[in-house]
Amino acid sequence: MKDFKFHNPTKVIFGRGKISEIGKELKRDGIKKVLMVAGKGSIKRNGVYEQTIESLKNNGIKWVELWGIMPNPRLSKVYEGIDIAREDDCDAVLAVGGGSVIDAAKGIAAGIPYDGDVWDFYTGGPPSKVHPIYDILTISATGSEMNGNSVVTKDDTLEKKGMHGAPLTNPRASIIDPSVQFSLPKEQTAYGAIDAITHVAEFYFNGSKELNFPDRLCESLIRTIIDNTDVLLDNPEDYDARAELAWSATMALNGMTAVGRGRGDWASHQIEHALSAIYDIAHGAGLAIVLPAVLEFNRDIHRDKIEQFGERVFGAREDADMVLERLRNMYVEWGAPVRLSDVGIPEEDIPKIASNGSIGYPIGHPRKLSREDVEAILRLAL
Ligand code: NZQ
Ligand code: ZN
Repeated sequence: MKDFKFHNPTKVIFGRGKISEIGKELKRDGIKKVLMVAGKGSIKRNGVYEQTIESLKNNGIKWVELWGIMPNPRLSKVYEGIDIAREDDCDAVLAVGGGSVIDAAKGIAAGIPYDGDVWDFYTGGPPSKVHPIYDILTISATGSEMNGNSVVTKDDTLEKKGMHGAPLTNPRASIIDPSVQFSLPKEQTAYGAIDAITHVAEFYFNGSKELNFPDRLCESLIRTIIDNTDVLLDNPEDYDARAELAWSATMALNGMTAVGRGRGDWASHQIEHALSAIYDIAHGAGLAIVLPAVLEFNRDIHRDKIEQFGERVFGAREDADMVLERLRNMYVEWGAPVRLSDVGIPEEDIPKIASNGSIGYPIGHPRKLSREDVEAILRLAL
């Protein structure tokens, strides 16, 4: 095991009916007024908005609202939120939604006390002062509820970039009520699961030799995500399966899977961010296309690990190519795309994707990938 430091300051409040606790959390921290950030309206249809407002009222917390954060959130909405929060003197930002809403809220929280352009934090170093962030999670996927990352797309250049401001940009408290995810469309449940699997895979396939606990933690997380996604695609209202999937997805990117292992690969994510920036596809859908292709490209350095993964996750010791075929087949069964053509992206777009500014060359670990390598990976995904 490699040496490590592990610090995660986010308080997680998990369970059915727990949205009612948000007001109390804010009050305890001395927060008087929040900017509530939300997406396109799912929280009005499934009762999450009502529960949130009731809890704020019960605890004397004032609020203003910013709606319309889209999946793959845009920088322009972050600017809008910063302006509103400053004008209305909000002393915290409360995200109510999925990763896109939470990420936009983190950008707003970093931008409020900053004199310059908040985009600086996505292209340079992390912020040194951030407004307090809280969230009520409505889809398990990104792990944003328990990490300090925010991923935002710049409107004009279509660069999708991450701010990595932990621990300052970690939510102070996150409410995870798995039952509010009963209303998710099936494809969103599947894309969320694929995102979480890929977060684990980015660390698992990082060139480290076999590790006992770190490897088994990753394998257990992925197996749990698979089993519970299978249940949920048949029965979206199975509470226990929602809860198991929710906590596994949070654990998949809260720092635990990095412990003892060192840095991750993150090539699949960088390449996917170019896809979702240009074509506005769901992040998990893009990862279903990219991760198997990256592993195929790198299979010689990861051969033992891919076969170990096959044995411990899919239950059969097989050749690496067969394991990757199983992974793709599982994604197809879940209704996800696994080829660029499945989402209508033609071969002639490959150079444009590989030169999108979301990808900061060289990418990947341990193997450093060039633009030509990324083009080759995308051709494996045709
Ligand atoms: O906008 P609303 O109406 O809320 O609808 C959303 C959206 O259409 C809907 N939804 C969410 N909860 C629901 C629901 N519909 C019904 N019932 C519910 N309970 O689901 C759709 C997708 O939401 P979104 O927030 O976009 O999903 P996700 O959580 O997958 O977030 C994806 C974004 O996070 C970034 C991705 O790149 C992408 O921009 N990532 C963030 C990371 C992080 N902060 O650590 C890491 C990831 O690797 C990723 O890059
Ligand atoms: Zn991801």
